[in-house]
Amino acid sequence: MLNFISDTVTKPNEEMLKAMLSAEVGDDVFAADPTVNALQEKIATLFGMDAALFCPSGTMTNQIAINVHTQPGDEVICSYQSHIYNYEGGGIARNSGAQVRLVGNDDGFLTSHDVINNINPSDSHYTNTTLVSIENTTNRGGGKCYDMQTVKNIADACQENGLKYHLDGARLFNAMVANKENPKEYGSLFDSISICLSKGLGAPAGSLLLGSTGFIQNAHRVRKVMGGGMRQVGYLAAAGIYALDHNVERLADDHLRAKHISNSIQNAPFITGTELPETNILMVDLEISAEEYLKKLSANNMQAIGFGPNRIRITTHLDVTENDIEKAIGIMKNLS
Ligand SMILES: Cc1ncc(COP(=O)(O)O)c(C=O)c1O
Repeated sequence: MLNFISDTVTKPNEEMLKAMLSAEVGDDVFAADPTVNALQEKIATLFGMDAALFCPSGTMTNQIAINVHTQPGDEVICSYQSHIYNYEGGGIARNSGAQVRLVGNDDGFLTSHDVINNINPSDSHYTNTTLVSIENTTNRGGGKCYDMQTVKNIADACQENGLKYHLDGARLFNAMVANKENPKEYGSLFDSISICLSKGLGAPAGSLLLGSTGFIQNAHRVRKVMGGGMRQVGYLAAAGIYALDHNVERLADDHLRAKHISNSIQNAPFITGTELPETNILMVDLEISAEEYLKKLSANNMQAIGFGPNRIRITTHLDVTENDIEKAIGIMKNLS
């Protein structure tokens, strides 16, 4: 089965498994796992931030950040397309008792004006606006990347208004590779950054939360409260170190492959259009329902995922080869 559902479906290759098997481990709840500590230091150095915390998932790193940055009743400015709002089980309200101000556009982008125009007045009728969260790349937006100037303008708006600034960087490495950006630039602009190792980077699990020393101390406590303290988890951290060392530059291949699929299926049956993908996510619009189209794909041993009534998402990743891409194009071109 050709699996284009998500970049989360990859399995560790032999080299990654070897790195995992030979990891030196300890009890990470006591911060005594040398491999976890090495991974945390590696990513913090890469981004020029004080410290990092290894967590089971990107949902947890986002939720911990929101919890540390807000008080119950506070308002978080974020995109109506964002993962933190749509796909984290209502965690903003449930875990932190905070509420959202949903702004931005269909691509999942915010501007500094969206931020400035949506900060509550300091009047007791209103709740406190305390946090802005953006996503790069944008998942529901189709893997699109922020331009750095917009990221900086929002940072300025946050600083001028005393707001914390969080980045859901589940696929930040895709954006940095696509636009040749420097992680330290991101590190200098945000109060916290979440990075997923289990998406395009190909690790089986794990996300990292980055921030100041004080922020990460608080995050460590919240991770425990959320049940995310893990013990000899250096085996997974070793996969993360391997992923950072071997699987970053190759993301450019995933991006080229997504573009190649997009160019090749423009006149394919049932397809009304696609956008030229910026990274590894390709949204495909259909003249039939997504459900019906996905059934047809599945009958031809290909899987993708529905993203609305007439839209599917195809994601390229480490475990689909060039040959798989050609097969997938052939399947879509010959669908009946
Ligand atoms: C933009 C974004 N943020 C956060 C997450 C959450 O990651 P996890 O599945 O590790 O909880 C995802 C997952 O796909 C995502 O796409």
